[in-house]
Amino acid sequence: MGLKERAAWLRAELERHNRLYYVDARPELADRDYDRLYRELLDLEAGHPELVTPDSPTQRVGGAPLKDFQPVRHLLPMLSLDNTYNFEELREFDARVRKLLPGEKIDYVLEPKIDGCSISVRYERGQLTMGATRGDGATGDDITANLKTIKAIPLKLTGAPPLLEVRGEAYLPVAGFQKLNAERVAAGEEALANPRNATAGSLKQLDSRVVARRPLAAVFYAVGATEGLTCTSQQAALEKFKALGLPTPQFWWVCTGMEEVIRRTSEFQQRVGELPYEIDGAVVKVNSFDQWRRLGTTAKAPRYAMAYKYSHAQAQTRLMAITVQVGRTGVLTPVAELEPVYLAGSTLARATLHNEEEIRRKDIRVGDTVVIEKAGEVIPAVVSVVRERRPAGSQPFDLAQHLHGKCPACGGPIQRDPEFVAWRCENIACPAQLKRSLEHFAMRHAMDIEGLGEVLVHQLVEKQLVADIADLYTLTVEQLAALERMGGKSAANVVAALAESRQRELWRLIHGLGILHVGEGAARKLADHFQSLEKLAAADAAMVEQVPDCGPVMAQSIADFFANPRNRAVLAKLHAAGVRPLPPERRAGAAGFLAGKTVVITGTLKRWTREQAQELLRQRGAVVTDSVSKKTHFLIVGADAGSKLAKAQKLGVTILDEKAVAVHLGSGD
Ligand code: IVH
Repeated sequence: MGLKERAAWLRAELERHNRLYYVDARPELADRDYDRLYRELLDLEAGHPELVTPDSPTQRVGGAPLKDFQPVRHLLPMLSLDNTYNFEELREFDARVRKLLPGEKIDYVLEPKIDGCSISVRYERGQLTMGATRGDGATGDDITANLKTIKAIPLKLTGAPPLLEVRGEAYLPVAGFQKLNAERVAAGEEALANPRNATAGSLKQLDSRVVARRPLAAVFYAVGATEGLTCTSQQAALEKFKALGLPTPQFWWVCTGMEEVIRRTSEFQQRVGELPYEIDGAVVKVNSFDQWRRLGTTAKAPRYAMAYKYSHAQAQTRLMAITVQVGRTGVLTPVAELEPVYLAGSTLARATLHNEEEIRRKDIRVGDTVVIEKAGEVIPAVVSVVRERRPAGSQPFDLAQHLHGKCPACGGPIQRDPEFVAWRCENIACPAQLKRSLEHFAMRHAMDIEGLGEVLVHQLVEKQLVADIADLYTLTVEQLAALERMGGKSAANVVAALAESRQRELWRLIHGLGILHVGEGAARKLADHFQSLEKLAAADAAMVEQVPDCGPVMAQSIADFFANPRNRAVLAKLHAAGVRPLPPERRAGAAGFLAGKTVVITGTLKRWTREQAQELLRQRGAVVTDSVSKKTHFLIVGADAGSKLAKAQKLGVTILDEKAVAVHLGSGD
């Protein structure tokens, strides 16, 4: 083989491996071997510059940095998509499509919605000639030099029409993102917030040599301007892309009708872990291009497509170990110890596994690659396992065996509690339970004792300074000052905070006691109803059930709590320590239209935080709840209100804007 032939062979071979890796997702070469071939080509071309071709893989990395990006007008605008978060709106979308295309059969394509940066790449006679960002949809930046460094984007296509513009996403694979961040942190640089930001930042680099060092990839899902492309459907376009060597989503489905789309979304969600990029939902597109044309677009988005977004962010990582936490009531909660992974704004190393039954149901095993999910403020949870990645020899999880039948905190006996599908530590003096109870008692939504957090509680229990919540009130400045990380000043502050907490609103104490099933909302209602701890303690279950929203299970739990001699002793100690909760102000006489009304808040308020507004409303006698129902009197609406507003409108609930409420709360303008 001559040098020229060897160079041609190396180029073809490198391209073939790019394609195996990025398009077919079945690599045959290790990175090292790929690099070896690449280096050979580089050396060969360096010695014989006449052998260099413009589409050689060595030409991906550009020369001198640019001064600026040139604007490019897109041949066809890059539109965005309408969003929905629920199936109901997908059905409404389907109804709109049907109305515009009466009597026609409508197939949909369901694809992942990739959370990267939109790009448009132009091929003329098969050669990559232009790559651009979305920009404002009409004009983007010419980032050709940067996109050429991305190995997933072919520099030339064989068998392509004379003009083909393809749209898709550039992304940083999750693994690449983590590696990049680790390197940055080691180098003393700031960590990047998330893969999408890291991608955007990379594409904006003026020096393509920097971009070439980032492990960016790309995936394509839409046709832009073309001449000579004969596809008549989204399905055909995706198949054509793949045949041309363009990377496409790893999975997508043609669905006959919207109900099939909806059924598929759960299968879709199960397989999210297989994707190398983060996704933020799925995209539903009418399949037929002829129907697209007749449906048309609005100014912003096509009428033939809709994004179905998850309100839950997901990621996958490895489950390194399962540890067990002991809760306030002795319940043993298994916790996933994860290989740290970035998810929706933070890096996670732990997630809840709920209980043994959940672990069994999902068959989660140590060593598995798992999908974790974070929904809003909720604690992240393990939702499923990527079975294909299970290591050989893994064993099903058995909690009792894992713990050798003993509480991991105190070594005491454990018991299965059928009511909670949970195991429980039976030792009433278990220090872990005590710690959780003390933390709960002191927290902001309970007795609000400043300075009494996890670290201090840990020491108080370990040094045996307290054996129950009432003992907190016997602590002295000297005792506290002797503890680690406690100066005399902070010790005095804690004692002062404790002293102050002797007179807190009654609901705070009721909540702080940590009665099973009694959350903050219930505690407020119990305080309103009974007006004193003594009356609540004297009530039987039937009497407690008279309280609004208090069901039989909660009522029984409350009655059991106060019947327990140990708890009675603690309450007596609290009383002896001078704890005198303040009864709620009598509200019968509270003036104003809010008195006795059930109120829900939605959206973001300008004048107050959510909590401030709730407090003000309560002071005026309103009952503030979280969800809209027939019983709701008023819905107070701030900016970006969501589904609660729609529900209230449906139920005919009176809707008030913030300004109207402000007038009544005394801070109107
Ligand atoms: S189609 C004409 N398909 O989501 C509509 N977009 O929120 C063109 N995106 O700007 C978009 N995955 O950047 C389409 N499978 C997919 C997608 C997708 C991610 C992005 C795209 C778009 C944005 C809209």
